[in-house]
Amino acid sequence: MTRGDSEGGRVVCISGGTSGIGAALADAFLASGDRVYTFSRDPRKLSARWPDALARGALVLLEGDVTNAAFLARLAERLDADAGRVDILVNNAGVILGAGTVDESLEQWRATLEINLIAPFALTQVCADLLERSAAPVVINISSACAQHPFSTCTSTSYSVSKAGLDMLTQRLALALGPRGIRVNGVAPGVVDSEMWGDATDLMREIAARRHVLRQEIVKPADVAEAVLFLASARARLITGTTIKVDAGYTLG
Ligand SMILES: NC(=O)c1ccc[n+]([C@@H]2O[C@H](COP(=O)([O-])OP(=O)(O)OC[C@H]3O[C@@H](n4cnc5c(N)ncnc54)[C@H](OP(=O)(O)O)[C@@H]3O)[C@@H](O)[C@H]2O)c1
Repeated sequence: MTRGDSEGGRVVCISGGTSGIGAALADAFLASGDRVYTFSRDPRKLSARWPDALARGALVLLEGDVTNAAFLARLAERLDADAGRVDILVNNAGVILGAGTVDESLEQWRATLEINLIAPFALTQVCADLLERSAAPVVINISSACAQHPFSTCTSTSYSVSKAGLDMLTQRLALALGPRGIRVNGVAPGVVDSEMWGDATDLMREIAARRHVLRQEIVKPADVAEAVLFLASARARLITGTTIKVDAGYTLG
């Protein structure tokens, strides 16, 4: 069996795996028997969730900021030293910092673009050689239903623009890395029940009820993980440059 080409035993790197969708991704890959490396600015908030996986080394939880180039370089060195390759990279860490359009500050714009758009490029860049050493490498970018549609329920313009840029990044990276055998895809969720909504849970429910034409259900982090697992699997071996919607019909109208 070549390395990293079957579920179980794959080396998975997830940015922002300590909350919401990222934590569900860590759960899903750990349940598949894979080895997960993840990080966030405050990883302690979730370290109690996986005591067994941490103890047996199936999960490596690091403290780091995805916008910090020195941290990304150390992360790549660690992955190289431990595993010598990366099979699956999920660019998941993301933020929504403002609301409105002309009301958003330049600081919010810069931070949003730095975390949601530039960092996925930077992390892919430092992992590219490690991905090339995998038998079945894939990068998956977590986008948003807000990326391609200027709905009023997508409250932050800087967020929508960052995710629209991420969708183009998915396609450009797929084009650039395809000849090296690396697939690059995205998943665009609708309203997901996660910590990202903070105390705006009433708004979260209201938008899902209004926009999610299928069942009006809020998307669960595990629903997003299912799509990521598919894109990471051999079943998707010829899929690249695509972003799959997991939005219960949010973007239909
Ligand atoms: N929730 C939704 O409705 C929804 C819908 C569509 C798309 N999405 C996307 O899904 C992804 C995950 O969001 P979520 O809903 O799971 O949100 P979340 O619960 O707030 O989780 C975000 C994760 O990213 C980490 N993170 C944020 N900034 C970081 C940084 N600078 N460096 C390292 N880690 C950082 C956070 O940890 P720390 O704070 O400890 O750094 C956290 O682990 C995001 O890209 C988001 O845009 C979410």
